[in-house]
Amino acid sequence: MTAASLEPVTFDPYDYVFHEDPYPTYARLRAEAPLYYNAQLDFYALSRHTDVTNGFRLATQLSNANGVSLDPAAWGPDAHRTMSFLAMDDPRHMRMRRLVFKGFTPKRVADMEARIHELTVEYLVPALERGEFDWIEEVAGKLPMDVISEMMGVPAADRAEIRRMADMVMHREDGVTDVPDSAIEASLNLVVYYANMVAERREHPTDDLTSALLDAEIDGDSLTDDEIIGFMFLMVVAGNETTTKLLGNALYWASRNPEQYTKVADDPERVSDWVEETLRYDTSSQMVARTATEDLEYHGKVIPAGAKVLLLIGSANRDAEVFDDGDSFDLDRVEKGNLASFGAGVHFCLGAHLARLEATVALREFASRVKSYRVREDGIERVHSSNVRGFAKLPITVEVR
Ligand code: HEM
Repeated sequence: MTAASLEPVTFDPYDYVFHEDPYPTYARLRAEAPLYYNAQLDFYALSRHTDVTNGFRLATQLSNANGVSLDPAAWGPDAHRTMSFLAMDDPRHMRMRRLVFKGFTPKRVADMEARIHELTVEYLVPALERGEFDWIEEVAGKLPMDVISEMMGVPAADRAEIRRMADMVMHREDGVTDVPDSAIEASLNLVVYYANMVAERREHPTDDLTSALLDAEIDGDSLTDDEIIGFMFLMVVAGNETTTKLLGNALYWASRNPEQYTKVADDPERVSDWVEETLRYDTSSQMVARTATEDLEYHGKVIPAGAKVLLLIGSANRDAEVFDDGDSFDLDRVEKGNLASFGAGVHFCLGAHLARLEATVALREFASRVKSYRVREDGIERVHSSNVRGFAKLPITVEVR
């Protein structure tokens, strides 16, 4: 037993030291306090793979209706928070999810592949020519939001402005959990923009996602304009920063483990192993919150009804019960398919296939053009957030083929 482990484990998701490397704390939580209670911040946390993945499936006992973030008011104006089905329980959630799925289909996502490729090349090639660039600024920070915009039917001329607004919606000063005025203003502007687009498509439908959502119908029931705007907002909140950070984390960990990068540089078709291992090893969405609707017993203790409960995704993904030598970044790993990264059960990430497609296309393009690269450690900047894990800045120097 080490000296550190004589002290009871403490876990504060806002602590900067914790952000540097959360995994030793997770390991202690799994071993010493599988049901952890933080009295100061008044939340419970589950860290073992079985508890986290089962927790996702206990939708009746662990509710989403009060939001899925530990932060008091994570998404700004309340209207859009209540509209989004991530923060609803069934049957309201299921009704809306099924209607959205009529428009946001796997085929519509798969059809984006060629455009994702074109956008990646458009951003990546000029950056590679310079030899030194910030991966987040030039590629990872642009691609996910631009892909969402293209799917919705946002004109190319507006894409950059939409990206700027979306970034402002998500931006928080380090250490501040309250929503800043700039984020509220950006949310309102984005909502006005989407409202105009929905009204316009109602008059003049096209073949884009917005028109498909307007068209979606199940047994005579369809989405209201507000619900469509709420879903667009949810895509910005759930699908933009998470995918940007996934792309950043992939490059960061492959540069720290160059023998792993060699595997994809030698055979870019192995890129999906790189994507899956990054999603496991250091996922961009580290935890989600729930509210207990009844007393729940875990490990001989009780979570009282009404309590906030965190499901620690990042911890579940390193649990030795499921992942052999989970602390090593290994593209040859055989235990695939047990990831907690996209949740489970009724709220399973609706955009998982889109996130995987974007990451696969962008990283394959990178690996097939870049022989080797180095992250400039002195220039990296990590975001400090209770749940988002990844980099705001990731400068790299590349050696192209
Ligand atoms: C839900 C992670 C990308 C749309 C979720 C959940 C997780 C997650 C963990 C479940 C949340 C919960 O149960 O409380 C991620 C990660 C991503 C990613 C790690 C990228 C690496 C995307 C993308 C989109 C998207 C690209 C769409 C454009 C959604 C939606 C939900 C969701 C709509 C709510 C589903 C529901 O409540 O039924 N995501 N996501 N996500 N995600 Fe993602």
